[in-house]
Amino acid sequence: LLRTVPTAFPFGFAVFFTDSVDTAMTARGNRFLLRDLPLASRLVLAVFLTSTALGYSLALLQLHFRNAWPGNALPTTADVEATYFGQRVQAVSWVEKLLETPEGPLDGTGSMRPAFTTASDRWEALIRHKTPEQMAKLHAEREGERLALLSWVRSGAGKKAYDNDDYRLTDDLARHEITTEFLVRDGSNHEPTHPPRVRIRTLLNTRCATCHAEDGRHEQARHIPLDTHERLQPFCQVQATRKAHTLPQLAQTTHVHLLGFAALYGLVGLVFTFTSYSGWTRGILGPFPLALQVVNIACWWLARADPAFARLIVTTGVLTAVGLGGQIACTLFDLFGRAGKIVMLTLLLSSCIVAFFVNGSVVAPYLDRERLDALINNP
Ligand code: HEC
Repeated sequence: LLRTVPTAFPFGFAVFFTDSVDTAMTARGNRFLLRDLPLASRLVLAVFLTSTALGYSLALLQLHFRNAWPGNALPTTADVEATYFGQRVQAVSWVEKLLETPEGPLDGTGSMRPAFTTASDRWEALIRHKTPEQMAKLHAEREGERLALLSWVRSGAGKKAYDNDDYRLTDDLARHEITTEFLVRDGSNHEPTHPPRVRIRTLLNTRCATCHAEDGRHEQARHIPLDTHERLQPFCQVQATRKAHTLPQLAQTTHVHLLGFAALYGLVGLVFTFTSYSGWTRGILGPFPLALQVVNIACWWLARADPAFARLIVTTGVLTAVGLGGQIACTLFDLFGRAGKIVMLTLLLSSCIVAFFVNGSVVAPYLDRERLDALINNP
C-alpha cells in the first residue's frame, strides 16, 4: 500500500507529460522518483520547497508579534496558555512589581526595595552605632513599611486613604512591626490606634518622593515625580492583560489553518513521498505534519477547557515544524545528483551561517529594545 498510494495521485499528471518518466517507471517496477523528472521540474520543486521553508519562518515571525510576550522570540507555554485558556496569573501593577522584585538595579527594570533600607534618606548615619539586635528590629520595621505600601497598592491605591493620610492595615499585617513614626495616633492619648492605621501619604513622601520629586535627591528619579496621588496612580494600576481568543476568532483561525496549511503540508508531503527513501520513512514522515496539525488544532479547542492542553499545543506545534523542515530538507537533498547535493549542502550551510549572524546583530538587539519599550510604555 505504501508503495502504490503515493504514485496514484497528482504526480500521475506530471508523469503523463514527461516522456522520460515513462521509461524510468517501467524500469523500476512502476515506482516513480523525483529524480526521474526533468531538471527544469526539479528546479521548480527546489524553489517551491525553499520558499515554503521561508514562508514558514515568516509564519513564526507572525507568531512572535501576535502571541509572544515582548522580548521573547516565540510564545512560551505561559503565553500560549494566556492566548487559548485565558490569563491565569494575576497581573500586577508596576509599583507592585518593583516592591516585590528582590534585587536588581534601582530603576524601572529592577527593584525599589532598597528605598526602604540602603537607598533611604540618611541610612548610613542611621545604622552607624546599631547593635545586631537593633539592626534586626530596624529591618523588620522597614519590611512592615513595604508590606503596608504593597497592601495599599493592591487594594487599589485609594485616593481617600492617601488624602486623609490614613490607611487601615488588614488583620495579618496589623501584627507586623512597622516604624511607629508612620502610625496614626489616637487624638486623646497619642498612642497608635488599634487596629493600627498607617499614614500612607507620609510613608510615600518619606520613602519615595525624597527621590521622586522635582527637587528630589536623585537626579534621574526627579523626572518621575511621585509626590501626588495623581502622579502615583498610573504606576499603581494593573497592566492590561491580554485577552484569550474569543470563540469567533478561534473559529476563524481554525478554518484558515485547516484549509491553508492542509494544502501546503499536503503538497510538501506528497512531493516527499516520491523521494527515494524507504517506504517506511515516506509512509510515516509523509503524512506526519498534516496529521499533527490536526492534533495541534484540536488542542487549541481543548485548551479552552483545560490549560494542560496549552503545553500540548507547544509540543505538537514544534513537532509539526520539525516534521515539515525534515521533509523539505530531505526532499531537497534527494532531488539532485552528487553535484546538486553539494550545491544544496553549501546553500544550507551558508544560510545557517547567515541566520547565525542575523540573529546576533539584528534579532537579539531587536528583542532587547522590545523588552525595554514594553516596560516603558505599559503602565
Ligand atoms: C534613591 C532614590 C529612589 C528612591 C528612594 C525611590 N526610587 Fe523609584 N526610581 C529611582 C530611579 C533612579 C529610577 C529610574 C529612573 C529612570 O529610569 O530614569 C526609579 C524608577 C522608578 C519607577 C519606574 C518609573 C519609570 O518610568 O521608569 C517607579 C514606578 C518607581 N521608581 C517607584 C518608586 C517607589 C514606589 C518608591 C518608594 C517605595 C521609589 N521609587 C523610591 C530612584 C528612587
